[in-house]
Amino acid sequence: MLGNFVYCNPTKLIFGPDALEGLGEELNKYGKRVMLIYGGGSIKKTGLYDKVIKTLAACGKTVVEDAGVMPNPTSVKLDEGAKIARENSVDFILAVGGGSVIDYAKAVSVSAYCEYDPWEKYFIRFEDVSCKIIPVGCVLTMVGTGSEMNGGSVITNHEQKLKIGHVFGENVFPKFAILNPELTFTLPKKQMVAGFFDIMSHILEQYFSGSDDNTSDYIMEGLLRSLIHSAKIAVRNPLDYEARSNIMWIATWALNTLVAKGKSTDWMVHMIGQAIGAYTDATHGMTLSAVSLAYYRYILPCAPEKFARYAVNVWGVNPQGKSLEEVGEEGLREMGRFMEEIGVAMHSSEVGVTEDIIPGIAKATLIMDGGYKILTTEEVEEILRASL
Ligand code: NZQ
Ligand code: ZN
Repeated sequence: MLGNFVYCNPTKLIFGPDALEGLGEELNKYGKRVMLIYGGGSIKKTGLYDKVIKTLAACGKTVVEDAGVMPNPTSVKLDEGAKIARENSVDFILAVGGGSVIDYAKAVSVSAYCEYDPWEKYFIRFEDVSCKIIPVGCVLTMVGTGSEMNGGSVITNHEQKLKIGHVFGENVFPKFAILNPELTFTLPKKQMVAGFFDIMSHILEQYFSGSDDNTSDYIMEGLLRSLIHSAKIAVRNPLDYEARSNIMWIATWALNTLVAKGKSTDWMVHMIGQAIGAYTDATHGMTLSAVSLAYYRYILPCAPEKFARYAVNVWGVNPQGKSLEEVGEEGLREMGRFMEEIGVAMHSSEVGVTEDIIPGIAKATLIMDGGYKILTTEEVEEILRASL
């Protein structure tokens, strides 16, 4: 049963090999002073930086740069970025990079004029924005997070050992996103497959919740099947445009808020993964793959029908003569085989988790209540031990 909901996604997508040609027209809609945000330098190596600078110059923009956004951007970096945006009175923020760069750009956009400590206001107290917001647009270079078409922004505070996401409203979503699958061809394999699993996790964490006949679940089964098919091809040939373009599109749909409408959602794998990230600074998608099988095996007995449905509809498991639990477990085994084939982390020890930091990670894990089981901190510890 679908309850009440509002769906509005204001991000304009410009997709395909020629997508960058649309950047100038979008930039012309905003003021002269542009803050260009990017990461550790991949865009300079690939030549994308030069192309973007050329477009900015052709549009007559004055450019202020904020480079060096790290994977898993920090609250310290955020304070620096907010200062740069404020002191230069920027009219627009252009983020060129992956989820970290885009998340950070959104955080800067709501922090530049924030009258309080942004970390405390948005990431500890989860308060709404109450100040001027600087509009953001993006050119995506890494596929996975869905940050290009949502209000999510995840920031890490190393001092407090916390990695927390705030989901901002539509006024913080990127105004436009340039999505050229070819820009992702230069990603190292580890980042590419981490992104694939991030997408899978986003879908699964919205799929494994609720028990009613929900259109979103059918959409998600389709997205998962397409993802599995294309990921296998992309791992064999990373330059396969068809596979990479399909995956880029799936990533966007997996977390642009559509499939979550009208149903509850889980998000415990992300909560555990983020807490691991706060301790080890590991690659986001790998923190999720490392704990997923242990988590899903733990909650399978709470929803055997849904796990059996997943096994049959997504992995093609033959259910004849088997109990729901057996079918569900066979689905998880197939999922494990797929994860090994694409080469993601299978154990949390691979992303830096050790026995001694498990209690701390469990304590730093936010407990959500939308899934099949509301976990206790002790259960999170148990899952982390099983994932080692
Ligand atoms: O920094 P550079 O030099 O650009 O290198 C990056 C970085 O080292 C590199 N890279 C990106 N595009 C490339 C490239 N290298 C070569 N060629 C390219 N085309 O890849 C590395 C990883 O980039 P990053 O942006 O960190 O990866 P990702 O897109 O996975 O973003 C991860 C962050 O997003 C958050 C995560 O928690 C994490 O902090 N998330 C954001 C979400 C959202 N906004 O809704 C949801 C997600 O679940 C996730 O939590
Ligand atoms: Zn994610």
